[in-house]
Amino acid sequence: MKPILVKKDLYFVGVFDPDIRTFDIIMKTANGSSYNAYLLKTDDGVVVFDGVKEEFGEEYFSKIESLCDYDEIKYIIVHHLEPDHSGTLPILISKAKNAKVMMSPQANLMIKAVVHSGEIQFETVWSGKSIQIGGKTIKFLSTPYLHWPETISSVLVEDKVLFSGDVFGSHYFDKKLFDDLVGDFDYAFKYYYDHIMRPFKRHVLNALRLYEGENIELIAPLHGPIIRQNPIKYINLYKSWSEQKGIFGGKGDKKTISIFYLTSYKNTKDMAESIELGCESEPKVVVNVYDLASLEENNVLNLLEESDGILIGTPTINGDAPKPAWDALSCMMLLEKTGKTGGAFGSYGWSGEAPNMINDRMKALKFRVPLEPLKIKLIPTKDELDKAYLFGKEFAQIINGKMVEMEI
Ligand code: FEO
Repeated sequence: MKPILVKKDLYFVGVFDPDIRTFDIIMKTANGSSYNAYLLKTDDGVVVFDGVKEEFGEEYFSKIESLCDYDEIKYIIVHHLEPDHSGTLPILISKAKNAKVMMSPQANLMIKAVVHSGEIQFETVWSGKSIQIGGKTIKFLSTPYLHWPETISSVLVEDKVLFSGDVFGSHYFDKKLFDDLVGDFDYAFKYYYDHIMRPFKRHVLNALRLYEGENIELIAPLHGPIIRQNPIKYINLYKSWSEQKGIFGGKGDKKTISIFYLTSYKNTKDMAESIELGCESEPKVVVNVYDLASLEENNVLNLLEESDGILIGTPTINGDAPKPAWDALSCMMLLEKTGKTGGAFGSYGWSGEAPNMINDRMKALKFRVPLEPLKIKLIPTKDELDKAYLFGKEFAQIINGKMVEMEI
């Protein structure tokens, strides 16, 4: 395949991967994908924006060679070091002897793990820095965590092109490449956001604030269609998805506490109901109780996202928490965890490890976990249900701002 002209002197030198069906282990890619890379020709030299997966190197390099000599390359801009974009970087660096690698300070800490040999000529860049080449200005924007800590975006100012990295990407192969020519990729665009960007909503909003200051007519992401027809539509979609809290936008000034329980003989359920009453005895909280075994995963995901406080009640079966409890916590991989408070409880027969295990897992996920797990042996007595009530009350007080000493 030949390079594809994007704008005057700017070419797509990426590759299509129509046959990929799973990306990064967790994403289904029914439409295949693409690894987008770009090349800018100027009177003073060439700029290469990103690379592709190593296995597609032959096609990538043949496209570059059809456009320039390696000695003409002055800059290699590395927006993101994940191997789907940096697989070809070691060879490109070895071939383009006159090129300087432009990357974030965070990428500088990671690049040695990607490029194992040879000296790298590089410069670190961040928001406010820019380069001039052949009458063109390339301005850098710091957009960390989208989707790794080292990611940056850049703007080709005169041509109003945003190189957004993974932001605005889609795993969607269509060799027609441009959004006004390809099929309907809305589903793939949202699915990509949900799996790659949703855990980093705060960082998405920070990036959008930077993009808003730029004049953008075309978005050149690292995956899927190039967006040139209506870029503002996609920017606004990212904005609304990232600003939204919960399915319907949160509960105003009230905090949401979700109590998820698993129960074999109703004992952990009884605890959940007393904890619910305790939580509800405090003002400004909305409390919901769910039987975790009967929730669809996507609903768990949405409920976890909108919850300020998350309590998981589980019995101990064979020295462990049952699978739905672990599955619920594994959903947190797809969500922002900052600011969430967690806790665990459960009735047990013999050993009762499960609530402690859930507490530990929540701590590992960087939840604030202020209370020791509440454990009750078999059928709760009236006094024990009173303790559960007080456990819920204290949890709600903490959600409302009560200070507690926590083990570090
Ligand atoms: Fe397309 Fe995060 O790499």
